[in-house]
Formats: sequence, structure tokens, C-alpha cells
Amino acid sequence: MYETWWKEAVVYQIYPKSFMDSNGDGIGDIPGIISKLDYLKELGITVLWICPLYRSPQKDNGYDISDYQAIHEAFGSMEDFEALLAGAHERGIKIVMDLVVNHTSDQHKWFVESRSSKESKYRDYYIWRDAKDGKEPTNWGGCFGGSAWQYDETTDQYYLHQFAVEQPDLNWENPVVRKEVFDMMNWWCEKGIDGFRMDVISLISKPEVYEDGPINTNDGYSAVGCITANGHRVHEFLKEMNREVLSKYDLFTVGECSGVTVEEAKKYAGADTGELNMVFQFEHMDLDGDEHGKWTKKQLYLPDLKENFTKWQNELDGQAWNSLYWDNHDQPRIVSRWGNDSEEYRVLSAKMLGTCLHMMQGTPYIYQGEELGMTNFPFRNISQVDDIECKNAYQTLVLDKKEYSEETMFEIISKKSRDNARTPMQWNDSKNGGFTTGTPWLSVNPNYTYINAESQIHDPDSVFSYYKKLIELRKNNKIIVYGSYSLLCPDDEKIYAFLRTLGEEKLLVICNFTSETLALPSDVAEQKDMAKDIMISNYAEPSDTLRPYETVVYTF
Ligand code: GLC
Ligand code: CA
Repeated sequence: MYETWWKEAVVYQIYPKSFMDSNGDGIGDIPGIISKLDYLKELGITVLWICPLYRSPQKDNGYDISDYQAIHEAFGSMEDFEALLAGAHERGIKIVMDLVVNHTSDQHKWFVESRSSKESKYRDYYIWRDAKDGKEPTNWGGCFGGSAWQYDETTDQYYLHQFAVEQPDLNWENPVVRKEVFDMMNWWCEKGIDGFRMDVISLISKPEVYEDGPINTNDGYSAVGCITANGHRVHEFLKEMNREVLSKYDLFTVGECSGVTVEEAKKYAGADTGELNMVFQFEHMDLDGDEHGKWTKKQLYLPDLKENFTKWQNELDGQAWNSLYWDNHDQPRIVSRWGNDSEEYRVLSAKMLGTCLHMMQGTPYIYQGEELGMTNFPFRNISQVDDIECKNAYQTLVLDKKEYSEETMFEIISKKSRDNARTPMQWNDSKNGGFTTGTPWLSVNPNYTYINAESQIHDPDSVFSYYKKLIELRKNNKIIVYGSYSLLCPDDEKIYAFLRTLGEEKLLVICNFTSETLALPSDVAEQKDMAKDIMISNYAEPSDTLRPYETVVYTF
């Protein structure tokens, strides 16, 4: 086990558009983030990952970048960014930037040039192909629905876009593109940033031969992400990035790797493979999906989750490094998803879920508002929805294919849409939750009147105070960061329990994922009988049974 700061970090993720608005235009901004740095310091996190702040037409909320070296006007200026960096550093907080280099915006000057003529020197910055039999070059479907190819009249060719039409894919086969990207990354490192979260980095290397794949999407395409994930040159490209940029600085690096398996993760984030520090894997996030992808009411079956986490915990141990997350800007709120957001159980289940995740081996990520137990939003009609992925799904599943009624679809949207995570941060019980004095770009969840930061910061029993304690414990106990993991009662459908060990030290973590009162399974009870003290728990008094959503961590 080698020890290092990024393994010991606790990361907090900010979605800038929804975090804090300083000037009343309804859009969160950098001065807003600066005004909350003390809040973040109080929570105790050590690294901030901020979703894209760069200049962008905002077709996909900043993941469509038109200038990598400028700040989006609505978020502020480069001076504001520098002030944020300095303010964070003064408080011992590092700043990790989102790096979106699988694609750019169609407004990026490279693409504007590229599409203008086949002779442009930027033509090969992107992926252009002729029509095949008068149709798209292949049957690949984009991650946001529809074809992954867009016809462009000017030059009578198609360009590839794995995401929105306005997000053309860069051509990583072109060494000039790679150099442009690496130069830009070095420029940010010289400015003093502390790392990168790399957007869909597992999708940058496209296949050698472009051909039709098996049809596996709702709208009759072959999902492009399945075709490009972990492409044949991706590790070569990342090793080159490591040589040209990452190895020159002491950085925090995490790759968002859809389609990553444990075997692949060991290459991306292996202790000695010279690529990244860690990856985000998606397997656990897909456990409540089905043939409709995420757009389904399917419930999580707890043993599936345990089996999946256990595989990642055990197989990366000593070889690579896990990132631990429940929530991010692409996922619904965990307390509503796998906890219980009723008045009775919201606080208990939010604490239980926090414990389960933060007691594993890896680097934990907290998404803004998770530390308050913020919930999903009661979406009732499409005008309340902003997200491009969600709007496209509504179009396909309700309007075009009539697979779901309005009512069913909105039930599902309230469970799964990315907008659930993107509603504004709830700071206090004043109008708009204190997020803005103007009209928020996306509605604030009406429950801001009782779920908000102000009411939790000084309440020792709040979700906030509990997360603060989880972070504090991790800072003071190496076993929480580095200890090995072993699962107890694998088949139990209601209880998730595991042990952590480091040298002579041991921890027992018990989580009740239901609202029932349960007896401890025998292997858990046996361990508990040998335990000494309680390290953290979400009930005030100990008990012999496991109460609704109870969690306890024992030391020995
Ligand atoms: C990643 C981002 C997501 C974005 C997509 C395209 O999955 O997390 O928000 O829409 O990439 O950039
Ligand atoms: Ca603003």
C-alpha cells in the first residue's frame, strides 16, 4: 500500500450553474462559489471538482466547450477564477477542473473552420465520413438519442457526435489534436490548478474500422458508447498525456470511464501503469436499469449492489484505486433513489448511505447538496425539464414510440432525470432557497423550506454534521482510507455489512437499507460480539436489533 494525498482526499463536486448566484441573474457563478468556500472548509472536504466553467453555448450545460482557455461569461471572468483558486488554496482546498476533450462545441473555432471546407487545416481535427448508400456512415446511435452522425451540407459529409449534435467528437488519431489538448492542459497546470476530472475519457479512441454494430438502443441504433468504450488506442493516448502533462505536476486525476470493467480499470488507474489516479466506473449506477436503459421503474436489488461493490473493492485492492460515489450531476439524488426521502426516514437513510460509501476503500466524492440530504424533484410536466438527455428520452418514449404514458414517464423522470441533481443548492429558507435573488434557471425544490444548509450547519444531528464527522474520521483513521474490505452476509437482501482491516486494526460496518427492524445475521452478530466501541452511528442509543435505516461502525 503506498500512501498519497489524493487517496486520502475527500472530494466535493460543484455544478456551477446551480451552486450559488452572486448577481441575481438566476445562474450560479464563480463569485458565488467563492462566497461559499468557508462553508466547504467547515464541511472539511479537501478537493473541489468543478464542472465545466469554460466558455460554452451551454447546449449541454458547459460540456460543449467553445474556448478551453476562457471562462463562460455568465460564470464570471478569468480574474474571478484566479481569485477562486487563491481562495481555495488559502483554505487548504485543491481545485480539480473538468476536462472535456472527447468533443468540443460546434461553436469552437476548430469546428467552425473544420466544417467550412474539406481543405481546412482543421478538417482532421474532427471525424468526417461520406454517406453510405445515401444514409449515415454507420448505424451508431448517440448517447443522447438519435443517430451519432450529423449531415453537414457545406461539404456533403457527416461528422461524428457521440453526444448532442452540437458536440462534435475530436479526432484523437490526429497527433496535432493531441498536442493542442496537451498544450491547453499544461496552460491550466501552469495557472496552478490541481488536477483534472476527465469527461468520458474512455470513449476517445474510435475503432479502426467503422462498421455497423448490433442494434441495442430504444430507437433502433447501435449504441456508440458500447463501440468506442476502451478503444484500441485509449491507453496509448493516456500514457502520452501522462508523459506530456500529468507526470510534470503533482495532480489529482480521475477518468470518467463509461463501459469500464475491473480489468480495464487496472490499466487506466493501475498503481504503475502511468495513466490516471483513479476512474469513475458505472456498473453500480446501472443496477436499477433494464432494456429501457435508465428510463425504468426497476428497483435496486441490494445483493446486486453488494456483489458489485465487493468486486471493485477486492479486485482493485493494492493494484489500482477506487473512486466512491453515489451522486453526481448525471445521477438522481441517492436519498430518493436507494434511501427513503419520506419525512420520517430521510435523515436516517441519508446518513446510512453516507456511511456505507465513506467506509469503503477509495476516494469519496460528495455531490453538492448530498451533505444536506437533498432529494429528487417532483417533475410533473416537460416545461420543468431542462436536460437534453431527458427531453430526448421524453420525445422518443412518450411522443414517438408511445411506450410510456405521460404519467408513467414523469414518475420515471422524477426518479431518474439528471435534472434531479441540477436543481439549485438549498442554502436557507428564504425565497429560492437563498440561491438567487432573481429567477433561478431551474426551479428550486419546494422542500428548501426545511431542507437547507443554514438549518443544518449548527445542528449536531443533521446530515451535514454527520458528513462532517465522516470526513473527520477518514482524516484521522488510515484504516478507512487504506484498509482491506471483506463482505459479510452476501445474500441478505436488506442488510449491507462488511469488515475493514489494516494490520491489527479492524472495523465492522453495518447498514440497514430498509425501514424494517431486523435481527443481525449470524456472521454479523458474531463480529459485533467481539467489537469494542462505536465509531459512528445514526441512532443515539445502541440496540440489539437493527432499526430502520440504522447504520453503525464498530471498532475492535
Ligand atoms: C459526461 C458528463 C455529462 C455530459 C457528457 C457529455 O458524461 O458527465 O454531463 O453530458 O459527458 O460531455
Ligand atoms: Ca449569476
